[in-house]
Amino acid sequence: MKNHNFKFKNNLLFVENISVPSIIEKLGTPLYIYSKKAILEAWDSYYQAIKNRNCLVCYGMKANSNLAVLKEFSKLGSGFDIVSGGELERVLAIKADPKKVVFSGVGKQSWEIEKAIKAGIKCFNVESEAELHNISRIAKHFGLVAPISLRVNPDVDANTHPYISTGLKENKFGISINTAFDCYQVASKLPNIDIVGIDCHIGSQLTEIKPFIDSLEKIILLINKINTYGIQIKHIDIGGGIGIQYKEESCISPKELIDKVFDKLEDNNLEHLQVILEPGRSLIGNAGILVTKVQYLKESEDRNFAIVDAAMNDLIRPALYHSYHEIVTVVERNVAKKEYDVVGPICESSDWLAKNRLLNELQEGELLAIESIGAYCMTMASNYNTRGRAAEIMVDKSDYYIIKRRETIDDLLRLESTIS
Ligand code: LLP
Repeated sequence: MKNHNFKFKNNLLFVENISVPSIIEKLGTPLYIYSKKAILEAWDSYYQAIKNRNCLVCYGMKANSNLAVLKEFSKLGSGFDIVSGGELERVLAIKADPKKVVFSGVGKQSWEIEKAIKAGIKCFNVESEAELHNISRIAKHFGLVAPISLRVNPDVDANTHPYISTGLKENKFGISINTAFDCYQVASKLPNIDIVGIDCHIGSQLTEIKPFIDSLEKIILLINKINTYGIQIKHIDIGGGIGIQYKEESCISPKELIDKVFDKLEDNNLEHLQVILEPGRSLIGNAGILVTKVQYLKESEDRNFAIVDAAMNDLIRPALYHSYHEIVTVVERNVAKKEYDVVGPICESSDWLAKNRLLNELQEGELLAIESIGAYCMTMASNYNTRGRAAEIMVDKSDYYIIKRRETIDDLLRLESTIS
């Protein structure tokens, strides 16, 4: 298993001290199961790396924004990277400190900006000059000052899937490194704007350190340039992006990245800057499994299909990015291996969770655990084919807590009405 808090004991898969079949017997499938200990350990890998250096982790909550997950991170001292008014409401709902919130995103709407200014967030990561003017206008209207940093697009290849690469000049994100200096000058003259930082985020699921360092070097040059113009910033935000192991990828550790960043800042006499990190996936990705049941087995001339009760609406990553998630049978049996396409019941050929996957020979009714689903799975789930979204639970040693109940069909129909 990708995380040691999910392991087999006497041929049964356990999450911490609880066996998966005993949970499923009560709660059914599909079910997202998170391990609290896995979350704490992932956090610790950042905390230990930071030591006593001036560094704030703002968890990128788009990875997994369940309130219980957010509460755990908040208790640990985390801030949050948000991208919508809805995500801000989540921060406020768990009574986390808005002063540890950074607000990213290319399309912040006026109501979201107003809400964030009034809540007193740490910083807007501004992604265009047009947005900058809007923030200034809104702050002025309410007689408040908006703290901002510019999200700079350094034009660096993150070497990740094109859909999750964000730091290339053809991407919609950030302000081009070539025009950012001009934009800082504009910001310095706008009313009700306080320039506090600089920001960049080049992509997600990065497995090499080089793109981080390449973009950091470009950002440092820019910091020096704005300094000579008299603009003093307080922090540098290097975004999220550290990848996790889905298959056999070798991964960067938070320590490797954090040490390198602080070294670079020291080399450039910038050690007075606070470092902000926005990790999402690396804090939660391998802290969860999705348990699903084999509904039917079907053999065509070409394939063996295992049709399961989870689908692309629960886990869209394979359909969207052709991503790989490890799958294991929850009960280990001593049987031959066989190759399967693991597919859901949705009426789309893209509704697959694994292709040509060698698994223990399956039986109908058998439980499967899909790994590495803590990040970007429930948050990207949908109701396609009028399927209620699955429940989420958090295991804490020998207890578990339902942190989101299963959606019922009534939940889905409640918002709709006919016209007569
Ligand atoms: N900060 C910003 C501004 C971001 O856009 C993101 C992710 C993060 C932080 C967190 O990045 P992480 O540490 O998780 O790599 N749905 C895709 C991933 C999209 C990432 C979007 N931005 C997937 O399932 O792989």
